[in-house]
Amino acid sequence: MEKFLIRGGNRLKGTVKIGGAKNAALKLMAASILSDDKVVLKNVPKIKDVFIMAKVLEELGMKVDLSDSGTTTITPASSLRYEASYELVNQMRASIIVLGPLLAQVGKAHVALPGGCNIGLRKIDFHLRGLEKLGAKIRVKHGFIEAEATVLKGTNIDFNFPSVGATENILMAAVKAKGTTIIKNAAREPEITDLVYFLKQMGAKIDGAGTSCLVIKGVEKLRPTGEYTVVSDRIEAGTFMVVAVLSGGDVLIQNAPLNLMGMIKNKLIDAGVKINETDGGLRVSRNGEIKPLDIATLPYPGFPTDMQAQMMALLSVANGTSIITENVFENRFMLIDELNRMGANIRVQGPHAIVKGVDSLTGASVRVTDLRGGAALVLAGLAAKGVTEVNDVSHIDRGYENFEIKLKSLGADISRLDEQNSPNA
Ligand code: EPZ
Repeated sequence: MEKFLIRGGNRLKGTVKIGGAKNAALKLMAASILSDDKVVLKNVPKIKDVFIMAKVLEELGMKVDLSDSGTTTITPASSLRYEASYELVNQMRASIIVLGPLLAQVGKAHVALPGGCNIGLRKIDFHLRGLEKLGAKIRVKHGFIEAEATVLKGTNIDFNFPSVGATENILMAAVKAKGTTIIKNAAREPEITDLVYFLKQMGAKIDGAGTSCLVIKGVEKLRPTGEYTVVSDRIEAGTFMVVAVLSGGDVLIQNAPLNLMGMIKNKLIDAGVKINETDGGLRVSRNGEIKPLDIATLPYPGFPTDMQAQMMALLSVANGTSIITENVFENRFMLIDELNRMGANIRVQGPHAIVKGVDSLTGASVRVTDLRGGAALVLAGLAAKGVTEVNDVSHIDRGYENFEIKLKSLGADISRLDEQNSPNA
C-alpha cells in the first residue's frame, strides 16, 4: 500500500485546475448502456473509480477507451451482457448504478449486492422498491440482485429520502419505460442534473432538472448522443478551497463550479475565508483567524456530506468551538480519532462532532479509512507542525486525480511512497 509523507507549514500558492466530477462521470458512463451508438464523454477524471466503472462496462461487452486528455469513448456491445460481478461491485459500490439502465436496455440485470462501506450501511432499498414499482421482478440471493422486467411501466415514485443513487437508477430505468414516471422527493445534486442533461441529449424526455420532482416520459428509442462534457467537481473545488485556507496560502482555483457551491462558499466565508471571483478563476486565501462554525450536512442544496471531513480539518484549528452534524451517513466521523492523534480536540455525541479549536496540529502517522476522510487528513498534515504520514492513500486515489501532484505544484512538501518505506529511509 502507498502513503503520503507530508512536511507541514508551507503556505500554498499558485494555480490549480479542477477536473470533472467523479459522481457525475460514473453515472454518465453507466447511462451509456442506454445508447445504441458510440458515446464520447469529455472532462472525465482519471481516477480509480472511473477505471473500475470502465471494467464494469467492458464486462457487459462494451468497449471503453480512456484517453489521457480525459476524453472517454464508449462503444456499445454487439450483444449486451447483464451481469456485474462481485469482484468489481465489491471494489466500487457505485457499480449498482448499472441496474436501471440494464433493465431499460435488455430487461435483465444481475448485479452483485454492494457491501456496506466505512461510512455507513449504504442500503439500496429505495433503488429496489422503485424498480419494482416500475414493474421489475427482483430477487436477492447468493449475494446477487437478480432483476428482470419484460416491460417497464411509468409510475409515481415518492422517496422517503432524496437518495442520489436511487434517483439516478430510477431515472435511467424510466427513460424508455411505457408511459410517464414522476419521481417526487428526488435528489437534486448537480451531478444528477448533469445526468438529466446527458439523457436529454440522448433524446430522453425529462422535465424538472434541478428540482425535487422529475417527470420522465418514456420514449421508444434514443438518438445518437455525440459528445458530452462532464460537469466540474464541486467537491474537489471545495477541497482545494480548504487547502488554501488551512495552509494560510493564496490559491487560484480554475474551473470551480461556484454556481453549484452556494452552501460551501457561504460556510467558508463565515469561517473567515476570502473568496474573489476573477476572470482567471476563484482566488481563495486566508483572511486572518479561522472562525468557528456550526455545520449540518444535508441533501443538496444543503451543506454536502462530501465536504464534512474537510471542514472538520479546517475547524480543528478555528478560534473557538464548532459543532458539525452529519445527517446523511451514520458513520462518517472515522477521521476524528486520527485528527485527535494530530492534536485536534474533537469529541462525538451521536450525529454531532464538537470541535474545540486548537492553536495548531502536530504531524503524526495516520491511516485513511475513506475517500473524503483521507483528503481531510492530508489537509491537516499540510497545516500541521512537523511530518505526517498518511497511510493507505488508495482510498484518496478513488476520487482525486493526481492529488499530491496538484498539491506539490502549489508548494506543498508532499511525496508518495510505498508504505514500508520509513520516513527516514
Ligand atoms: C452518492 O452516494 C455519492 N456517491 C456519495 O459520494 C455522496 O456522499 C452521497 O451520494 C450523498 O450526496 C456517488 O455518487 C458515487 P445516497 P449514494 O443514496 O448515492 C441512505 C463520495 O465521497 N439510503 O444519497 O450512495 C444511505 O444509507 C461519495 O464521493 C437508504 O437508506 O448516496 C445514506 O445514509 C461518498 N436506502 C443516505 O441514504 C437507499 O436505497 C444517502 O445515500 C439509498 C440510500
